[in-house]
Amino acid sequence: MNQRAPAPAATDTGSQAVSAMFGRIVRWYDPLNRLLSLGLDQGWRILLARAALLHLQDEPSPRLLDLAAGTLDVSLALHKLCPQGHVTAMDFCQPMLEKGRAKLHTPELQHAIDTAVADARRLPLADASFHAVTMAFGIRNITPRSQALQEMYRVLLPGGRACILEFGSGRQRIWSGIYNIYLNRILPLMGRLFSGDGAYSYLARTICNFPTADVLADELRAAGFARVYYLPLTSGIVCLHVAEKA
Ligand SMILES: C[S@@+](CC[C@H](N)C(=O)[O-])C[C@H]1O[C@@H](n2cnc3c(N)ncnc32)[C@H](O)[C@@H]1O
Repeated sequence: MNQRAPAPAATDTGSQAVSAMFGRIVRWYDPLNRLLSLGLDQGWRILLARAALLHLQDEPSPRLLDLAAGTLDVSLALHKLCPQGHVTAMDFCQPMLEKGRAKLHTPELQHAIDTAVADARRLPLADASFHAVTMAFGIRNITPRSQALQEMYRVLLPGGRACILEFGSGRQRIWSGIYNIYLNRILPLMGRLFSGDGAYSYLARTICNFPTADVLADELRAAGFARVYYLPLTSGIVCLHVAEKA
């Protein structure tokens, strides 16, 4: 891994709380993702991985960075679509990464995907060292977002792209409000029932507080990205953002 001096992960109280919360729900994280997204979440991640790899078809061994990598579903999708690449997966919650590492069943997978505990706002990585950066369902949890976006920009090679998958702003009415009722009432209830934790109320709250896709696009431009666009998925429940470094 092309690294600079390691930075401590989750140092402030806000991020320690976020990391601890993901640590508490790690056992339920994958099955609840499938259940609560009605099986759509893995398809969204594959679209993210495809978008990240689109400009790398002629690259013999692309270096890929998956941030807020959690239990490595995006890292695995990147490897499946681009087995000749190398994935560095980073997250500040060690239990999430450990759960993910248990999915690396073969020596080939263990060689192709490296994991490291790191805060996306202070990456222990050299400038201009990756061809593509992904982040799925992570940016919503990060404050201030601008630091993580600037870090993505810094570690990308010129011509590289950052691809971010995130829920749309939950304030927008979707499917005549049916999705909003699901998000605010049913999802926290099901999360509490299955995981016994209030983390799924946090999920609904962060989705509702998340800005519109246009605001995130402006923030990506402010971080330095030259070409920025986004694609709403599943009626805008989720949005795929693509940002290219000139
Ligand atoms: C909702 S999970 C998404 C995990 C994975 N990307 C996926 O698609 O399932 C959010 C992840 O972001 C991580 N995270 C939140 N803030 C972070 C930060 N500042 N630096 C690194 N990881 C962070 C959490 O630990 C958690 O694993």
